Amino acid sequence: MTKKIFIKSYGCQMNVYDAERMAELMDAEGYEQTENMDEADMVVLNTCHIREKAAEKVYSELGRVRLNKQKRETKGKETIIAVAGCVAQAEGQEIIKRAPIVDMVIGPQSYQNLPAVLKEFQLSKKPIVEIEFPEEDKFAKLTQLKAASPSTFLTVQEGCDKFCTFCVVPYTRGAEYSRPVEQIVTDAKKLIGQGVKELTLLGQNVNAYHRQGLDGQDWSLAKLLDELSKLSGLQRLRYTTSHPNDMQDDLIEAHRDNELLMPYLHLPFQSGSDKILKAMNRRHTRQEYIDLVDRIRQARPDMALSTDIIVGFPGETDQDFEDTMNLVETIGYASAYSFKYSPRPGTPGAEMEDQIEEQVKKDRLSLLQKQLTKQQKTFNQSKIGQEMPVLLEKPGRHAGQLIGRSPFLQAVHLDGQDANIGDMVMVKVTEATLNSLQAVMKPSSLTATTAA
Ligand code: 5AD
Ligand code: SF4
Repeated sequence: MTKKIFIKSYGCQMNVYDAERMAELMDAEGYEQTENMDEADMVVLNTCHIREKAAEKVYSELGRVRLNKQKRETKGKETIIAVAGCVAQAEGQEIIKRAPIVDMVIGPQSYQNLPAVLKEFQLSKKPIVEIEFPEEDKFAKLTQLKAASPSTFLTVQEGCDKFCTFCVVPYTRGAEYSRPVEQIVTDAKKLIGQGVKELTLLGQNVNAYHRQGLDGQDWSLAKLLDELSKLSGLQRLRYTTSHPNDMQDDLIEAHRDNELLMPYLHLPFQSGSDKILKAMNRRHTRQEYIDLVDRIRQARPDMALSTDIIVGFPGETDQDFEDTMNLVETIGYASAYSFKYSPRPGTPGAEMEDQIEEQVKKDRLSLLQKQLTKQQKTFNQSKIGQEMPVLLEKPGRHAGQLIGRSPFLQAVHLDGQDANIGDMVMVKVTEATLNSLQAVMKPSSLTATTAA
């Protein structure tokens, strides 16, 4: 009988990506994925450590997993439990100490060995902790790549050397690493062969990508995008997440020249105050960010911008927060993610004096989010009446309804008529809400091809 595996993923897109790869690895071992923990012979929690009480949440989830394991035991069924992801990396052995039901702790740089670690555990029946950063190329073992949607992520870069003082990523994901171009092209072709039309290149610092290319030269992200845009069948390219300091001229030019590259850019600025940016070790100023956005908009005037913002970093005064609000007003965002600062053990920010009171953080976040919501609504409404290509990705809630994405990454709902998932259709936007657009398909729009 086939065995079942339940994988729960927390946090960022990279974790979702890793969870899909773990599912593929385990599929090859005869484990079928289930959404129902009760019937799972193996449970994997793919954890995130970026904010809030991440580790505590994992321990409380493990409490539920334990009850489930006990229930299964009464029916004579075994459950193997693994903790993966960034909490696994940060906590290591401590997880086994605090939650002895855990059989395996496996970090983001080791999960390609999940089948081998499982076999080792089945032989030894002793808990295993795998959190070193091995020399091997983990992606060489992650070649199955089953595309779940016409729009799919592809990791091209991982890790970070920037050491922003609030962030755990350089510690949990390790040093910046760019995958070889040939490997990426092979993966992209495999995905396109399965009907993928849109690729989002993924990396913690994706625009820091650099690696020797097919011509022996050092290739940047722009060059990689250029190469991928030649692949027949591919219709759209995106990338995320970027650091302002790595937005080189050729990448900005690619937004003007590469027809497959969509007019949407996630460009975190974190704080609008130079004092706080310095304390965060962001290595850019407020004005440099504004100038950068100007250059990007010159290259691509309809560029939709998104960002990440932290409020309540240690030492943030009312004036510093005002500077953040004011920068948001100056730039105008299509969407944004905003967070209360959360001290991460082991990062310099956690050791700083002048930590901000919880209530102040809450108040600032609520003010900021109000403004961001307003901007997002305004941005969506500005598209009413416009025609644009939409890539249809999934069925909607009502019969005949389909949901796709605009070039600007907005969710678009429409009545599907003769269209199918995976089609690129031309639509006219009729309505806009905070989170989506409503549109009608243009007649004969199934011939719509590429970019906006
Ligand atoms: N507290 C709050 N937000 C954080 N982020 C990263 N670390 C922290 C932290 N300690 C946010 C940043 C980053 C996004 C992925 O998460 O804004 O860009
Ligand atoms: Fe974290 Fe800064 Fe690296 Fe982004 S650039 S992953 S925020 S350290």
